[in-house]
Amino acid sequence: MAVNYQKEKGLFTLHTKTSTYQMKVDGHGVLLHTYYGPKTDDSDYSYLIMPVDRGFSGQPGDAGNERDYSLDFYPQEYPVYGNGDYRIIGMKAGRKGQVPALDLRYHSSTVTKGKYRLEGLPAMFAGEEEDGVSTLEVVLKDDCEEIYVHLLYGVYEKEDVITRAVRVENRTGSTVELKRVMSMSVDFYREDFDLIHFHGKHAMERQMERNALPHGITQISSRRGTSSHHHNPFVILGKKDATEDRGECCGFALLYSGSFQAQMEVDQLHQTRLTMGINDEEFCWRLEDGETFTAPEVCMVYTDEGFTGLTHRFQKAFYDHLIRSPWKNRRRPVLVNNWEATYFDFNKDKLMEIARQASELGLDMLVLDDGWFGARDTDNAGLGDWKVNEKKLGCSMKELAEAVNGLGLSFGLWFEPEMVNEDSDLYREHPDFALQIPGRPPVRARNQLVLDFSRKDVREYVERQVFQVLDEANIVYVKWDMNRSIESVYSAALPEGSQGEILHRYVLGMYEMSEHLLERYPELLLEGCSGGGGRFDAGMLYYAPQIWCSDNTDAIERLKIQYGTSFCYPMSTISAHVSVCPNHQNGRVTPFKTRGICAMQGAFGYELDLSKLSEEDKEEVRRQVKLYKENYQVILNGAYYRLTSPWENPDVTAWSYVAEDGSRAILAAVFTDLHGNPLAERVRWKGLDAYAVYEVEGREYTGAALMRGGCLLPVPKCNYDSCMLLAVKKQ
Ligand code: DGJ
Repeated sequence: MAVNYQKEKGLFTLHTKTSTYQMKVDGHGVLLHTYYGPKTDDSDYSYLIMPVDRGFSGQPGDAGNERDYSLDFYPQEYPVYGNGDYRIIGMKAGRKGQVPALDLRYHSSTVTKGKYRLEGLPAMFAGEEEDGVSTLEVVLKDDCEEIYVHLLYGVYEKEDVITRAVRVENRTGSTVELKRVMSMSVDFYREDFDLIHFHGKHAMERQMERNALPHGITQISSRRGTSSHHHNPFVILGKKDATEDRGECCGFALLYSGSFQAQMEVDQLHQTRLTMGINDEEFCWRLEDGETFTAPEVCMVYTDEGFTGLTHRFQKAFYDHLIRSPWKNRRRPVLVNNWEATYFDFNKDKLMEIARQASELGLDMLVLDDGWFGARDTDNAGLGDWKVNEKKLGCSMKELAEAVNGLGLSFGLWFEPEMVNEDSDLYREHPDFALQIPGRPPVRARNQLVLDFSRKDVREYVERQVFQVLDEANIVYVKWDMNRSIESVYSAALPEGSQGEILHRYVLGMYEMSEHLLERYPELLLEGCSGGGGRFDAGMLYYAPQIWCSDNTDAIERLKIQYGTSFCYPMSTISAHVSVCPNHQNGRVTPFKTRGICAMQGAFGYELDLSKLSEEDKEEVRRQVKLYKENYQVILNGAYYRLTSPWENPDVTAWSYVAEDGSRAILAAVFTDLHGNPLAERVRWKGLDAYAVYEVEGREYTGAALMRGGCLLPVPKCNYDSCMLLAVKKQ
């Protein structure tokens, strides 16, 4: 049984394939957290709590003078503010104008087959028959007020993951102010954890960092209105000895694309608590009587199979149960995007020249990026005016799409729906559509303001314009961009006391418009983007099966960016392009072959003027496109292995994929340094069948030999040389 409820003991034990999670209603009705770790039995693990009278740790009212009982050190399932727990908490709320204290006690619970859904928010789903997934809902109620907190658990037994979310219900008869509602909290007994997280900046996202968790609170967060380039809403707690291949670790991914926070606290008893959810810094939600508030979902994994085991569980669970797009299993079009090829300087002739070349080289799609609308010849004007600039283009969008289609290519288009330039017709007509604080100059970024997507009328206005363009031409792909962090958060449409709701309402609005887009164009391939990977999170994958991973297209820096991204997200979601050299972001020169090998790590494409390539490079494009098309299934849905780390190995970064049916595997390696009198570089394959025979480059090896002995990489012949090896299993 995935969910075992022992009523007489008040014990809920959740089992997945290799993990167990447990909570228990204690004698006071408090829901304690008693276990999360390797799969075990249904014993009551609350014996691990040591009741001791600890100074300065108080007792909740009904515990009287029971001094060894204190919520200040007891592990709890959903700790709250105001009942004597001084650590980070799950929730802080109270009647408007009153002290926000809560004391949650067990009320009821239900177990059902299938997966709960979250209205208006991304959430993982079950399979066709709702098989293999169970939902546990535990309802807690405040001891004094009619405030109900529904803790939701989705138990994916086979996939080995558990999801969590929280619903708060107000039945007090008056307004309740929610000042903090985390999606989850989890307590660990005394452990020494390292925190592994993925920080970064624009054009250098998801840089892996590993540090010992110190005493006190450590926070990974964004208050930029998006999940951000700077911190990713995904963290890992790993035991000191956890490595790529073995060791205990837990991962937590928030399915949310706005301001978030993950907090970790190591307390006075060296116990660790982790909470994750919407960032509470600017958050305050007025919940009227009878209303419900839903906090977004978290997906969590425990494994003792190291980071590879963790990655495989997240990648597979997200691939099978989060990504909805019909494109999930289809071969993604190998596209050419004109951004780095032309920037704003293009017309039909120039685009057709690139398209003609793309068609000759075997590509599938031309994507027209920024600059086709309004007065958009630089990034200072035009955002918000989604009307085709036919004068600049030299034709209508319909004509352009038809001409591109005539070459056997499909056609895709860029939008940035959430933004407006002050120099635009939209802003001149509706300045109140932008988020800005009355009486203060706005904070501009890329000279643009953010539209108030918390407002339905604003979204509908933008939607109408976007749909008009999409209706006019045969557009099968949309790149939805978002090029700044949100600041100056004030909505002209919300009352004073509700301004703390804007950022979350904004995210809900963005999700709603994405949903409308997909409802209207169900076959659309939507690519997420926010100045590259500024909104690369699990929430977006519910709408977009691929996301532009970074504005940095340098193959060597991409090694670290894609390495970090791979820990949580399926490789098929990582959009990567071959661009020109010297690279536009950092001036580096790399071989064309290496750029192809790096971009082939995910959803593959080009971003350069194909018509300007040498004959030799064109031949290489043909080869790369053919290789990708022949192996896309392994790349998009194979088991992914990080073979060496770009952070630890200065000489070579290597990775591999093994097809689901084990019939083939691909190993790629990029040399990041050169040496005279070079050492032999040996890499061990992973995930092969030890007893099978594989052919690699015309030679036969056993799986055991490739995995244990490894294979020798060729000696690099130039800076940033690379290789790609294909292993085909012999029948
Ligand atoms: C940022 C994106 O990441 C780029 O790929 C490009 O679309 C530009 N925006 C266009 O403004």
